[in-house]
Amino acid sequence: MGKEMIGELELNRIYQRNCIEGMRMLPDDSIDLTVTSPPYDDLRKYNGYSFNFADVAKELYRVTKKGGVVVWVVGDKTHRGSETGTSFKQALYFMEIGFNLHDTMIYAKKNYVPLTHNRYEQQFEYMFVFSKGKLSTFNPIKEPTKEAGRISRLRHRKNGSEIRDGSGKGRPIQKEKIKPNIWFYGVGKGVTTKDTIAFEHPAVFPESLVQDHILSWSNGGDIVFDPFMGSGTTAKMASLNNRKYLGFEVSEEYVRIADIRIKNISRGGGAS
Ligand SMILES: C[S@@+](CC[C@H](N)C(=O)[O-])C[C@H]1O[C@@H](n2cnc3c(N)ncnc32)[C@H](O)[C@@H]1O
Repeated sequence: MGKEMIGELELNRIYQRNCIEGMRMLPDDSIDLTVTSPPYDDLRKYNGYSFNFADVAKELYRVTKKGGVVVWVVGDKTHRGSETGTSFKQALYFMEIGFNLHDTMIYAKKNYVPLTHNRYEQQFEYMFVFSKGKLSTFNPIKEPTKEAGRISRLRHRKNGSEIRDGSGKGRPIQKEKIKPNIWFYGVGKGVTTKDTIAFEHPAVFPESLVQDHILSWSNGGDIVFDPFMGSGTTAKMASLNNRKYLGFEVSEEYVRIADIRIKNISRGGGAS
């Protein structure tokens, strides 16, 4: 079977390349979903590679299909006693260049590292979900309700306020409801992923976090992109969920790790 292409690039590959140069090779409106986490506020961690945020954001807007989504996972560093606020500045910039801020979600870590600071311990990062125009795909993840079957006489208005059901009959509570937008994940060796090699990278995504976004905002056969591929989590989870993937990663060392993780899928190294 011939290789599938996107512009001049092959799909289902991670290119060792600066993502700006890579994205410039992609056609307009060609990516269904991006799930990514940029290097934030602390470039030394990633061998000193830097990126121009505004250029990345503008290219992401250009290459995203109409109705497509970008999930941008970021946190702020505390510098000289103040959080940098970089995540908010970036979110506002994405809106300025045309994206809708569809949802501000939270990635909460079940087992975070206490840092004994004079502030509450940092347990979360933002997951900004941007859409290019009206969102085209939403496959909500559901979770069981606690009181399935109980008759509720309360209804919710569209603005979220509650009113009593005037019919006097009420309605049974469904078995499942759409998950709320704070997502909790365990992190650390053997939990973030079972791929030991991934931990040679300093900031690996939990595999289930990426999978949950892929299932929510894309369909089978769609193209899932990550301009900052790191250890390859987005590529691995796209592949395991029957999506096509494409990614860029500037560090040769990290591309090697990502390629090994992807090769291991076919040897039985599935999701954790
Ligand atoms: C937060 S990490 C991503 C980790 C990834 N989500 C994972 O699960 O492993 C950001 C990555 O961006 C890479 N990077 C930094 N500047 C880059 C650039 N201009 N183009 C492509 N990759 C870059 C870094 O080497 C680092 O691996």
